[in-house]
Formats: sequence, structure tokens, C-alpha cells
Amino acid sequence: MTEWIVPLAAPRLRDRELQALLDGYRSGWWTMGPRTERLEAEMRDYTGAAEAVAVSSCTAALHLACLGAGIGPGDSVVVPSMTFAATVNVVASTGARPVFAEIVSVTEPWLDPVAVEAELNRGATAVISVAYGGHPGEVAELVRVCKRHGATLIEDVAHAAGSWHRGRHLGTLGRFGALSFSASKNLGIGEGGMLLSDDPVLAGAARRSRWQGITASTADRHDQPLSSYDVAAPGLNYRFDDPRAAAVSARLGRLDRDNEDRARIAGAYRDALAGDGRMEPTAAPPPGDRNSHCMFTAVVADGIDRDHVRVALAERGVQTSLHFPPLHLSTAYQAGPPRLLPMSEEYARRSITLPLFPEMEESQLALVLDSLPGAMDLAERRRPA
Ligand SMILES: Cc1ncc(COP(=O)(O)O)c(C=O)c1O
Repeated sequence: MTEWIVPLAAPRLRDRELQALLDGYRSGWWTMGPRTERLEAEMRDYTGAAEAVAVSSCTAALHLACLGAGIGPGDSVVVPSMTFAATVNVVASTGARPVFAEIVSVTEPWLDPVAVEAELNRGATAVISVAYGGHPGEVAELVRVCKRHGATLIEDVAHAAGSWHRGRHLGTLGRFGALSFSASKNLGIGEGGMLLSDDPVLAGAARRSRWQGITASTADRHDQPLSSYDVAAPGLNYRFDDPRAAAVSARLGRLDRDNEDRARIAGAYRDALAGDGRMEPTAAPPPGDRNSHCMFTAVVADGIDRDHVRVALAERGVQTSLHFPPLHLSTAYQAGPPRLLPMSEEYARRSITLPLFPEMEESQLALVLDSLPGAMDLAERRRPA
């Protein structure tokens, strides 16, 4: 694997978190149990959600949200194209049809409420919004639009642990929210996720579905000699496990500090780019909001080849990435009448993700800042005449 001087991210567990993981394994209870319950309580306290259901991934949480919302064959669900495949795959896996809607602009790469409302007028019954990079986007307006149409709003908040909008944690504004603990996320520990909801009935159904629809958990059956149990509804195995739950609990204690460090690095990028004009950052979070700053994205000016900028940065040891290839043009989702999403396509063509992680050293940040102007000069020179 390439050794980057500045990697895109540098997932690292601290000693306390590794110790929590070890203690979890040493306890002999390896699946969902008391540590998972404790994490759920902590996530309720932290986010303000009435219910928190720990699961094996954000994808699992999104899938359970779709099932809980009754999404299935014959339904249309509005989704962005500018997201990770999980947001859309969960819709397809229920037998419903994902309907792609346009983003607001190339510096606001999240669902445009006007485009969403147009699809609700055409018969869609649910929306999955994405807190892109942890930004709230237009979620407040999406709540209003969905309410007007009696549609379900599911918030994909994979990037948004520690993101608040007007005093509410993202993922608690819609009917469901889905957080991720996967490696690249700002509350990452490897794999895992959390379903948030204010509805105890829906959360209860999700709890049952995450473990085969069984009425008694493995921990219940360990504590009491139950003669049997029932399978109340079809379910799956989307369980989280205690060692990783303990590691997330330990990480939660530093989440706000990590996010502040991320904000400082994002601020340095913004200041540097403001003076150049050849790369425009994604809109900053609204003033007064706390934000995860899970990733830093920007679009190169029209006429600069983004891929050339990436190559030039790579030559200086700086890793970059793309978030995301547009899903409406992917092999899985391009069938049917062509979907016109020019803004999403332009964003995909011009956007770049720069390195961002809380432990980034000053010398690493300086290398990225120092390399950016030269990379854009090179990209301009390499542009075909
Ligand atoms: C926007 C978005 N949604 C969902 C997911 C899926 O998360 P997980 O890997 O925890 O299933 C990701 C992961 O990258 C993501 O970026």
C-alpha cells in the first residue's frame, strides 16, 4: 500500500479505546450485550434521540429504517445521486424504486428541496437525505416538505456524528437517522452503526429485526432459563457486538474535541483557498452550528482538470479522493429513461476531497497548503489547448 506523506484519513484508536476493546473480548461476552446497551444509552443522551438501536453498520440502520417506514415494492423513494451507494442500495433492496433528485449547487452538494418536492408531487412517498460531509444541507426545509406531503424522511447521517443544526443533532429531525462507525468516519472504530428514532414502536420493531425477529435476545436467554422463544417477524442478523460497542463508547468521549480539531483544519483550507479563486470549498456549516467536518471537499474552477490536480498532489505525497461518482450513472442505477442531473454530474467532475483528520500534524497541513497552488498551476498547464 502507498505510504502517503499526508493520507486522506488516518484512523487511529487511542489506548483507552484499545483497552475498552480488549476488556470487551476478555469479558467473554462477544456479541450484543451490556456494553451495547450502555452505548445505546450514551447515544440517546448525546444526540437527544428518544431511541438508539446499535447495529452492524449504517447500511443496516438505513435498511431497518426503510423496512420500519414500510417502504417496499411499488414505492418510489427520493435520494441524491451524490452519495455513497449504501443510501440507494437499501432502497433497491426493499424492492422500491430509488428516484434521483438534483443537488442545490456545486458548492452545496445536498438534496434541493424544490427538486425533492417535484418528485413527491409525482408520487414518491419517502426521502433519504444525506448530511454530506456532516453538513445539515437543507434538512430543515426537507422536514417541512415531507410533512406537507405526508412523506417519511430518513436521514443518512453517516458523516454527521457530532453535527448539530439549530440545537438538534442531525439524524433526529426526520423519522429515522442512521450513523456510521465505519473506519473512514469521524466516530469510526472499524464497522458499526446506530439507528436513531423518536418512535418507540418503530425502534422496538428495528430491535427485533436486527436479530432474526426473535423475542428474546441472547443476553436474555443467558440470564434466564427460558423454555423457548418466538420468531415474531422475519428478521436478519444486523447485531452490533460488545467489544466494538465499548470502543465506540470510549471514542465518544473525544468526539467533540476531534471535531474541533477537524474544524480548525477545514478553516485553514478555507482561508488558503479564499485567496486563490481556482478552487471553491463546499459551503461552510451555518454559523452557530457545531459540525463534524467529516470530510473537506471543494470544486476546481471551470477549465481546470480536477484529475490533473489530484495527480500533481499525489506527486507531492498528498492523497485525495472523490465523493462520490454519481450513482444515477452507475451500472446498477442507470437503467430506464435518462435522468438529467447536470449539477450532480458537474460536481462529480470538478470536486476533490482533501486530507482531513484530527491528528494531522502542522507539517502535513503545511505540505497540502503549499502544494495546492502548484498543483493547480500544473493542471492549468496540462490542460489541452
Ligand atoms: C453517505 C454514506 N451513507 C452510508 C454509508 C454506509 O456506512 P456503513 O459503511 O457504516 O454501512 C456511507 C459509508 O461510507 C456513507 O458515506
